[in-house]
Amino acid sequence: MDRHTLTSDQLTVEVRALGAALNRVVAHTADGDVDLVLGHASDADRAAGKFYLGELVGPTANRIAGGRFTLEGVEHVIATNDRGNTLHGGPHGFSTKEWTITEATDDHVSLRLAWSDATGGHPGNLVVGLTYTLTGAELTHVITLTTDATTLASPCSHPYVNLAGSGTIADQVLTVRASRVLFIDDTGIPQGDPVDVVGTPFDLRAGVRLGDALASDHPQAIAVEGIDHAFVLDAVGLDGEPCAELADPASGRRLEIWTDQPSLQVFTGAGLHEVSAGLAGPYVDHAGVALETQNYPNAANRPDYPSTLLRPGETFTSTTRWRVTA
Ligand code: GAL
Repeated sequence: MDRHTLTSDQLTVEVRALGAALNRVVAHTADGDVDLVLGHASDADRAAGKFYLGELVGPTANRIAGGRFTLEGVEHVIATNDRGNTLHGGPHGFSTKEWTITEATDDHVSLRLAWSDATGGHPGNLVVGLTYTLTGAELTHVITLTTDATTLASPCSHPYVNLAGSGTIADQVLTVRASRVLFIDDTGIPQGDPVDVVGTPFDLRAGVRLGDALASDHPQAIAVEGIDHAFVLDAVGLDGEPCAELADPASGRRLEIWTDQPSLQVFTGAGLHEVSAGLAGPYVDHAGVALETQNYPNAANRPDYPSTLLRPGETFTSTTRWRVTA
């Protein structure tokens, strides 16, 4: 089975075995069906793709500086794939693999991957599990990971959202309940301590039109053509206030997100025009905003960030919940 489709009155959700990708989320609205996430129309495109549309990235989401880290006194060197750094698990990461669909019903799908590093640099034989559950207008995913040697665990799902179903996300409004953000160097690695968002274009707490963020003249925004930063979440947890909300004022559609992870990477989709065979045809730059619930980037090399260490006998888990109002 290479894919499975979940259905409810409000949503249809397609999950692919290749890359464990959330390839389609369709909202059934009064105006007809609307695609809410970016996906690939062809497997060839997905295999060659570097945008990780909807994929489950890991073992470590985002970047590990220089592809190097030290665990329990032993230095490990892993393959790099982004300006000298390892991005989203590197060239042989979870998202490049054909996963096995182990359970498939109307309301949930579970996938499993047994993974070890083809280049031999990444410690551990890992077993990863992912379940997407659809309940009405809510889509929850749970990631689990175990290992047989001390390793790094910080996988995440990498969906790009566009509540309008086409065009860019410029007129959509993003709220992120984060009073700190990680500024990055010119290779995308956090420079140091989280920075207070007050007085910066990265203060998304009251909601910001993404077109304004794309046009910002802040050096951190210019460098990545908008936002490509990890926000340190104030609202962590699966109940209470959502950590983030995306709204499309034109249609009234909204997406709320809850997570138990400490940060949200927001990537406003510079370069997406390179995806020539998206679900809805070629995409344009900023055709979607990636909303990635994860640990801090480069935590492997930062003892002051929340740890991504995982030992044999322990189980990493990560849960994220979406609620769509369409
Ligand atoms: C994001 C990352 C971006 C870019 C993108 C995929 O998660 O923050 O810098 O690499 O993935 O192209």
